[in-house]
Amino acid sequence: MTKRSLISITDLTKSEILRITELAADFEAATAAANLATQNESDGSMATRGLLQGKVIATLFFEPSTRTRLSFESAINRLGARVIGFSDASNTSVAKGETLHDTISVISNYCDMIVMRHSLEGAARYASEVASVPVVNAGDGANQHPSQTLLDLYSIQKTQGRLDGLKVMMVGDLKYGRTVHSLLEALSHFDTEFVFVSPPELRMPAEYRNLLDRKGLRYTESSELADNIADIDILYMTRIQKERFNDPMEYERVKNTYVLRASMLAGARGSMKILHPLPRVGEIATDVDDSPHAYYFKQVENGVYARMAIICYLLNVKK
Ligand code: CP
Repeated sequence: MTKRSLISITDLTKSEILRITELAADFEAATAAANLATQNESDGSMATRGLLQGKVIATLFFEPSTRTRLSFESAINRLGARVIGFSDASNTSVAKGETLHDTISVISNYCDMIVMRHSLEGAARYASEVASVPVVNAGDGANQHPSQTLLDLYSIQKTQGRLDGLKVMMVGDLKYGRTVHSLLEALSHFDTEFVFVSPPELRMPAEYRNLLDRKGLRYTESSELADNIADIDILYMTRIQKERFNDPMEYERVKNTYVLRASMLAGARGSMKILHPLPRVGEIATDVDDSPHAYYFKQVENGVYARMAIICYLLNVKK
């Protein structure tokens, strides 16, 4: 079988994206059924647990992570595989100067799949060229975060009942934000209207705006948040990412530009949902958490189902 990696959301066709969100829904239903069986003290064994029995998956995190690493590891465990890996490369032979090439070549011998996060754009693509097993990009610098995108799409589909005909507002760091870049590319398969809200220095890069132009999709840009909340379906908030700035003064200037508060949601559509890849560092006030529009913690749960789906899809394991 040919090795199938997931490095960019553009590695997947529209029908493959929809197949993965469909699989995610299956895994969510299977998990709910297994939990119910456990509560009823009947056979609580999960049908999904045998799917990857005997497999080993490596999670290599050269950059910090809470959700992506742990939800991948939760997904791997729920599928019955074993996890090896690291969450801090300073405890590995990288600290002795071992190259990414050699690290990936070696670890390929220990596992059936590699899930990798790295600070360098292009590192995941390079790893997939070196590795003898499939590689999943768990975030490479400001470039791509395709598994986040698939869980975002699954969340959007679940809450809106569709992926076509939606108006999506993206707020915050649109320049360095890999989650918004991947999500924009995925949503460009659908009839989506975008509103980009960012400080001028953190605008959505031209390559992504050009993609929308080529596809005939509408977008508007603004530096104001409060004006626009009324007629949108998805409000996708992002963190201003301190770690991406070369100039600390530039970060200081823009870091508190947007704070979403509950009072700003009064005119929102009833079905509007707020998504955020998390972590947040103040751009969503905690008074929003109790709003029926807040969906970011449920979005986190969806990440486990989406990652179960991604792993099984790439390894061609049928449920
Ligand atoms: N959304 C996301 O990538 O979160 P982590 O950085 O915690 O993995």
